[in-house]
Amino acid sequence: MTKTPETNIVFGPQPKFEMPEHTGGDGWTILYGDCLRLMRQMQDGVFDAVITDPPYASGGSTPAEKTRSTNQKYSSMSPDKALPDFAGDQMDQRSWTNFMTDWLNEAYRLCKPGAPICLFIDWRQLPSMTDALQRSGWIWRGIAVWDKATCRPQKGRFRQQAEFIVWGSKEAMPLQRNVGCLPGVFRHTNPANRIHVTEKSLPLMRDIVQICEPGGRILDPFAGAGTTILAAVREGYEAVGIEKTAAYYKLGSDRVKFALEAGKIS
Ligand SMILES: C[S@@+](CC[C@H](N)C(=O)[O-])C[C@H]1O[C@@H](n2cnc3c(N)ncnc32)[C@H](O)[C@@H]1O
Repeated sequence: MTKTPETNIVFGPQPKFEMPEHTGGDGWTILYGDCLRLMRQMQDGVFDAVITDPPYASGGSTPAEKTRSTNQKYSSMSPDKALPDFAGDQMDQRSWTNFMTDWLNEAYRLCKPGAPICLFIDWRQLPSMTDALQRSGWIWRGIAVWDKATCRPQKGRFRQQAEFIVWGSKEAMPLQRNVGCLPGVFRHTNPANRIHVTEKSLPLMRDIVQICEPGGRILDPFAGAGTTILAAVREGYEAVGIEKTAAYYKLGSDRVKFALEAGKIS
């Protein structure tokens, strides 16, 4: 399999294991497989930031609600139009928090000192996510808000109009980093023609990647439809994604490839 420049850097020029299936182009690579297994093969200190949207394993309070398929939990599309379900979203609370801690530990090792991390999450899993982040050695620095602008109204209740970006850094985050002042609230609607059940908006991700110093290498271990990867490359970064669900590895890789080849914005 042809290796991309990023695979040489992140796995080293002479890896002692078989290279995983991957797709890539100028400055980007998406690897097919389990992020924890693949990250364990990567070299220390090769990333400048981690920006990701992991499976939330949310969508309810009871085991019966949480173990529904991702389409049942997160999509209102009719079954004939349903997008593929994705992996990793049916764990119970303890398993999910342990899994978050495990991959965050590896991510810490893979990052350079000072690297920022951004983790998307909903209100239910917010406390467990900030626990997992800190338990794996990262400094928790705050929570930014993604205001989705529109969402289902709920009689007598506040709308669940926001998701959150838990962010932090590996060790100190010097003020003299070459990054300007960033907002704490991002208002972007969900993408209109999604190819992933929980796809993030590209303009939102183009805003979020700005936390990384210019030209840095960003890791997204839960790449889905490749939105972070596309946003990162569009903004002049290098990007490495990992995706475990075969259908989304293919959809995401094709999306990034065709969008970049066509020079499109979305
Ligand atoms: C919330 S979605 C990410 C959506 C993405 N931000 C986008 O805009 O399309 C999480 C993704 O992580 C993938 N995933 C779950 N567990 C994984 C694992 N252990 N390793 C790699 N990918 C995984 C799922 O298949 C899913 O596509």
